[in-house]
Amino acid sequence: MADFDLVVRGGTVVTGSDTMRADLGIRGGRIAAIADRLDGAAVLDAGGLLVLPGGVDTHCHIEQLRVTGDADEETWESGSRACLAGGTTSVVTFSAQFKGHGILAPLAEYRRRAGRAMVDYSFHQIITDPTDAVIHEEIPRVVAEGVRSLKVFLTYDPMHLDDRQYLRVLAAARRNNAFVTVHCENYEAIGWLTEALLADGRTAPKYHAWSRPTVVEREATHRAIALAELVDQPIQVFHVSCAEVAEEIARAQARGLRVWGETCTQYFVLTAADMDRPGFEGAKFMCSPAPRDAADHDGLWDMVRRGVLDVVSSDHSGWCYDGPRGKRLHGADAPFRDIPNGVPGLTARLPVLFSEGVAAGRIDLPHFVRLTATNPARLFGLYPRKGTIAIGADADLVLWDAARQVTLTNALMQQAIDYTPYEGRRITGWPVATLRRGEVVMRDGVVQAEPGSGQFLARGPYDMIRPRGVLPNGFDAARFA
Ligand code: URP
Ligand code: ZN
Ligand code: ZN
Repeated sequence: MADFDLVVRGGTVVTGSDTMRADLGIRGGRIAAIADRLDGAAVLDAGGLLVLPGGVDTHCHIEQLRVTGDADEETWESGSRACLAGGTTSVVTFSAQFKGHGILAPLAEYRRRAGRAMVDYSFHQIITDPTDAVIHEEIPRVVAEGVRSLKVFLTYDPMHLDDRQYLRVLAAARRNNAFVTVHCENYEAIGWLTEALLADGRTAPKYHAWSRPTVVEREATHRAIALAELVDQPIQVFHVSCAEVAEEIARAQARGLRVWGETCTQYFVLTAADMDRPGFEGAKFMCSPAPRDAADHDGLWDMVRRGVLDVVSSDHSGWCYDGPRGKRLHGADAPFRDIPNGVPGLTARLPVLFSEGVAAGRIDLPHFVRLTATNPARLFGLYPRKGTIAIGADADLVLWDAARQVTLTNALMQQAIDYTPYEGRRITGWPVATLRRGEVVMRDGVVQAEPGSGQFLARGPYDMIRPRGVLPNGFDAARFA
């Protein structure tokens, strides 16, 4: 009998720390050997290719339910296909709470829908209404189920939490050994600016950026961190758009706080000028925080190289450009305030970052792997099962052609969303095969996986998100609040 079910032979294996020439032996869906000249029942030739850990996207919106009762246009099947086409094998997506409702029924519904997934998955539980029942009864149950991160919005109607509500969620997370991720923008400031812009007749998509300049993101980031320090609760700041905001995180990290920063593919390549394209076209590039200026791209890379920002996610959002359920939900002439936020990017995340990062000489290969797989897996309690190539880890792998030049089109994205903000962009580096738990699920762009073959990833307690044990006056208010 062969030693291994499958051997990936002759590739250059890259982990978050090393690059080495090695074969990989896979048994029972896991990495069983990393060595020279292995033999198996089947062999996959990786000659001339990089062998990377499967991507881990810890911030993406898939089949998310809307207040209207329907769901985002990206379904679990189409979203999984997009992930596998782009080399991502695990995601952490969202279970959303609506004000006036609890979180248990929605989570059950999200889990039912994810029964069609072809990638492995977990959820962040969005908290928009931290009632006593949610805080004291439901959050403990959700965390016990393995959903170990809570997501809060400091802006957006009708999602945003005020400071007092945010503190309650931080305290609940602390009591339950959970993590908190935060959308940081100042709700009141955005509302005030939006009213003024609309009163002045400035309604076009480009004014989305004017309604939420960097200062509103920086202020909310500072406040989110300060309040997390008050509770002694670790947090990750979602989708940091530029260095000016990341500086707030750098200062907190320098003081020893457990604060991490995520950025997203779009902030390295899109700019506010994209929202000024003719007609309604600018809506394709609207997301929050808004894309900044070309000069900010360099600043963001500096923050990545310094390690202040250590995760790059897609923040994939399920809004099509055409049709009444997407960006035109409120009509083709809708003012920017009423145009849904978010850009798609499940497939493009790895290729765009590889091209802008590794091919352009801004980061090395292990750093690319850390940003896209190892760090998100560690921060969200999926490591070492996910995010690395090591004995015992799931054999989630991407065979990567580092020299392949590709012009991005939406057809390559294999998503349900009808556009990509990266259309026509020429990039270097492309995934040619994806393996999920040892099974080849994408080869040369053809995705072959069974709907429902994805597994739920229950996340237990882990060290990285433990509070520091440092409290103002030593008084642990979270025990009573
Ligand atoms: O514009 C964005 N980012 N849309 C998705 C929802 C969120 O804020 O993460
Ligand atoms: Zn957000
Ligand atoms: Zn998001």
